Amino acid sequence: MSAPNSRFIRACRCEPVDATPVWLMRQAGRYMAEYRAVRKKYSLVEICKTPDVAAEVTITAAEKLGVDAAIIFADLLLPLEVMGLPFRFEAGEGPVIENPIRTAKDVDKLRTDRATELGYVSQSVGLVAKHFGEKMPVIGFCGAPFTLASYMIEGGGSRNYLLTKKMMYSQTAAWQKLMGKLVDVLAFYAAEQVTAGADALQVFDSWVGCLSVEDYRQYVQPFATDLIQRLKKTGVPLIYFGTDTATLLPSMKQTGADVMGVDWRFPLEQAWESLDFQGAVQGNLDPVLLFASQEELRARTRAILRQAGGRNGHIFNLGHGILPETPVENVQALVEFVHEISAKNAAKAR
Ligand code: CP3
Repeated sequence: MSAPNSRFIRACRCEPVDATPVWLMRQAGRYMAEYRAVRKKYSLVEICKTPDVAAEVTITAAEKLGVDAAIIFADLLLPLEVMGLPFRFEAGEGPVIENPIRTAKDVDKLRTDRATELGYVSQSVGLVAKHFGEKMPVIGFCGAPFTLASYMIEGGGSRNYLLTKKMMYSQTAAWQKLMGKLVDVLAFYAAEQVTAGADALQVFDSWVGCLSVEDYRQYVQPFATDLIQRLKKTGVPLIYFGTDTATLLPSMKQTGADVMGVDWRFPLEQAWESLDFQGAVQGNLDPVLLFASQEELRARTRAILRQAGGRNGHIFNLGHGILPETPVENVQALVEFVHEISAKNAAKAR
């Protein structure tokens, strides 16, 4: 850990800050010309596997935007490869997993002894941490077991998660074994990022919102809890994010995560209230508002800060990742608005 007193880390711990920290999911991505230039030379996976380049992409985005944290450039799906499931990205189609998991036998074949081969991500983290020193905290991340299991079973993105839920309901023992194997790999992989210098970890459960509360609690919560509890031993703040989670947030919080990510569909204040205002929250501007006028963007930024109500423990973010066509100048303006409005509010409260 290199920046324990930064605004971002202080907010994760619900300590007072001079202005609300802000970072943005997918802050390094196709909307940014610098990233597109790197992508002309390397595929997405090549960037991830070349620590110099991944670090450069991470640093460039964070510096250009003036955000309060740098999220390491990697991809959620990288652990699939070392578990024995190769994947590729098809233009316009998103990720494709060549041989999806469908049977108990498929689950048995998955490997958990090759997680060290993901060391390139820790190396990237180390380079970014070294570059920034105390100036900027670095966020490491991994997928949550449910969201990764859904990619493994569906073979890619999905609308109804039919095959995933079918395995959950009708091959429960195989499901539990799969989730357990994922937790083993992810716990090791994410903890390595902290050893390399990450100041915080975000666990992405992007698609968990397709589950009822009952199913989350029965089939997912024990494994998410196991992962979070193992990662707690690293000592860094843990952020747990999903989309469409208005009904799930209190159960997700029970995993022990320090910071709950909130998507844009749920008013931030209600989301926090559903957690009895315990712990920190992160969110939650609709990423599409970055396509609106700057007047609208400023008004909606102010509205979210008003919902946070000057309480300690708010980290500003989008409700999901930045979209590819987003105007960069609006992203920069958003970061300025968050700092300017929240600093004024903080000064008034003093
Ligand atoms: O946030 C950041 O700046 C860090 C980098 C990051 C990437 N992926 C790089 C990336 C992070 C945090 C992720 C996480 C990720 N990857 C998630 C969880 C976050 C979320 O959005 O809910 C998921 C579901 C994935 C899997 C994945 N990777 C998808 C569905 C796609 C889109 C495929 C497409 O063709 O649009 C990707 C590709 C991807 N990962 C891109 C980036 C910048 C864009 C594509 C590119 O450069 O080709």
